[in-house]
Amino acid sequence: MNPNEADRPLKIDMIRNDAALKQFSTLLDKAFCLPAGSHYLDDFPVWDERCIPSGADLLKIGAFDGDLLVSSVAIRMAELKDLTGGIVPVAIVGAVATDEAWRGRGLASKTVSLALEWAVGKRAALAVLWGSEHSLYGKLGFLLRGKQVRVPLAGFQGLGSVAVQTGWTDALFPLLKARPQGLRLREADLAWVRAHKNVKWFWTGDPGKPNAYAALGKGIDLAGMIHEWGGARKELVQLFAAIEREHPGSELLGSPTLMSEQGILPPESSEPLCLAKVLEPGRAPQDFWLWGLDSA
Ligand SMILES: CC(C)(COP(=O)(O)OP(=O)(O)OC[C@H]1O[C@@H](n2cnc3c(N)ncnc32)[C@H](O)[C@@H]1OP(=O)(O)O)[C@@H](O)C(=O)NCCC(=O)NCCS
Repeated sequence: MNPNEADRPLKIDMIRNDAALKQFSTLLDKAFCLPAGSHYLDDFPVWDERCIPSGADLLKIGAFDGDLLVSSVAIRMAELKDLTGGIVPVAIVGAVATDEAWRGRGLASKTVSLALEWAVGKRAALAVLWGSEHSLYGKLGFLLRGKQVRVPLAGFQGLGSVAVQTGWTDALFPLLKARPQGLRLREADLAWVRAHKNVKWFWTGDPGKPNAYAALGKGIDLAGMIHEWGGARKELVQLFAAIEREHPGSELLGSPTLMSEQGILPPESSEPLCLAKVLEPGRAPQDFWLWGLDSA
């Protein structure tokens, strides 16, 4: 139906049956203006039913005109390792989209608010999302939080060479799980981590036990940026140098603290990491780094 002709209220409901889930994927592709053949869920498989661990604390909410999905949001519970080694329950919001014809009617505001109510019920200390619609999220109480810096990979040139392997291997997952900061990954998260179609993985070491790793780009997000990295320092910087040779102009993105710990001098100027809304003031970390292939 043409939204201008709609004379009945839209229904807000969970997106869970097959027909609605199919529309969810199509709505996201359309709302994000993806070219034919590209799919939002290829870059954010954490919201893809085929990759969601059974029993995951996750909710998808939609606004429906009859059976037609016209607006969506997804939210999930996750655990954040804070900078002091503690674990904080957080809610991650993503897949926020409204069909162009239905925008400006408060649908995203409504569905995101309901998602936040769900997160409060789950005792999330913080809700987090990535997005540039600061007006929408600002009105809902989100503020720019966290800190990240970018370092050009060109600075790692001339540091010797190392044999570089490419492509995802499940042997990388233990390294991701062992990261000192960011999201705590569990075995059940492997399905969505490995499903990222457009992340370029580089690593060094034995195929069964990589020493260092870096992930470049993420499709519609993080183009030209190394957003996941870690492992043995010497091989890591050699890996950065090798990636720069193959993909000149790439940048390393990360927490200034982690960079310092790896002997990488972070620039003084930083940028906010994400939009976050404190849900339980006493339990929300003051400062944090949310590192993980997880949301948009
Ligand atoms: C962003 C989006 C979900 C908003 O959906 P919506 O249902 O129109 O949102 P609402 O009607 O609740 O708008 C709430 C506020 O958001 C702001 N807003 C809405 N769309 C916006 C846009 N595209 N860009 C910037 N701000 C926007 C407006 O300031 C609006 O405030 P107002 O009521 O004072 O005008 C929709 O524009 C969309 O699908 N965009 C493409 C996908 C996208 O970028 N998703 C967000 C990723 S985090």
